[in-house]
Amino acid sequence: MDIKINKIGVMTSGGDSPGMNAAIRAVVRTCAFHEIECVGIYRGYQGLIEGDFKQMNARSVNNIINKGGTILKSARSKEFMTKEGRVTAYAKAKEEELDALVVIGGDGSFTGAMVFSQEFDFPVMGIPGTIDNDIYGTSSTLGYDTALNTVVEAIDKIRDTASSHNRLFFVEVMGRDVGYIALNAGVGAGAEEILIPEENLGKERLIESLKRSRLSGKSSSIVVVAEGDKTGENVFELKDYVEENLPEYEVRVSVLGHMQRGGSPSCWDRVLASRMGVKAVESLLEGKTNFMVGIKDTKMVLCPIDKAVKGKTDINLELLRVSDIMTT
Ligand code: F6P
Repeated sequence: MDIKINKIGVMTSGGDSPGMNAAIRAVVRTCAFHEIECVGIYRGYQGLIEGDFKQMNARSVNNIINKGGTILKSARSKEFMTKEGRVTAYAKAKEEELDALVVIGGDGSFTGAMVFSQEFDFPVMGIPGTIDNDIYGTSSTLGYDTALNTVVEAIDKIRDTASSHNRLFFVEVMGRDVGYIALNAGVGAGAEEILIPEENLGKERLIESLKRSRLSGKSSSIVVVAEGDKTGENVFELKDYVEENLPEYEVRVSVLGHMQRGGSPSCWDRVLASRMGVKAVESLLEGKTNFMVGIKDTKMVLCPIDKAVKGKTDINLELLRVSDIMTT
């Protein structure tokens, strides 16, 4: 890419995650450091289509590194999925004299960036922001670490009341269709069972495992269930099934829901966001485009955005084995 970058647009798109504000801050301040302009785009691609822009400078991002959510708001734009919508978005980008886009979001957002870049030869750079951690090309996505800590804290609280009442709790966590939050937070919180979509061992095995826990002297249990898990219809049907087959258990359900998407980002997410923001802007200034910034073995890397969109991530089998052993 041989165009001169003088003005970069930055947006947050898709499901929000803690650390997005820290990434916005890093993009804006890296632009200021290199004396180029930066424009905040509200509500993702929908805001681009509508020309919903805000001129940003180093002071515009004061005191946001520790704030969950995104000051630029986020959205999923159906209009941007149409060619007409993207033509309008491109016209607005040119009208605003944007030379490149930094898109902070998940794989859906990167798909949009990739198509937009291909259709209009427009430079784009992705920063992976999703609590799901399901993006190929990076070992961590922004918000994942914070979400893990939120879930572990919530399960610790649930365990207090579970042990007071000798109850079994099913705790459902987010992750759309992957089990990273469930597996890592489950191990971290000492869950007796962890149900994830990547392995479906069936209800009978769950009953056997809970029976063994009971026989080994456990009077209460926590079962962490990824929202994409298919062991049962859903977490409530699993509750009914266990009550029918293990009448000695009093069972409750706790769906953690969107609290996992909020909260002040952890130090890890703040530092990761700062590093990714610098890497994204400086890669654009070096003439690179159509990449996603990632982290691998503590180093910043660039992954071709089409691979980030299409690539698949694998569950950590060693950790899966650890979780099995820990339920002894
Ligand atoms: O992708 C992040 C995520 O929080 C998923 O874990 C969850 O399934 C989904 O977004 C929820 O989407 P929405 O915010 O549209 O309800």
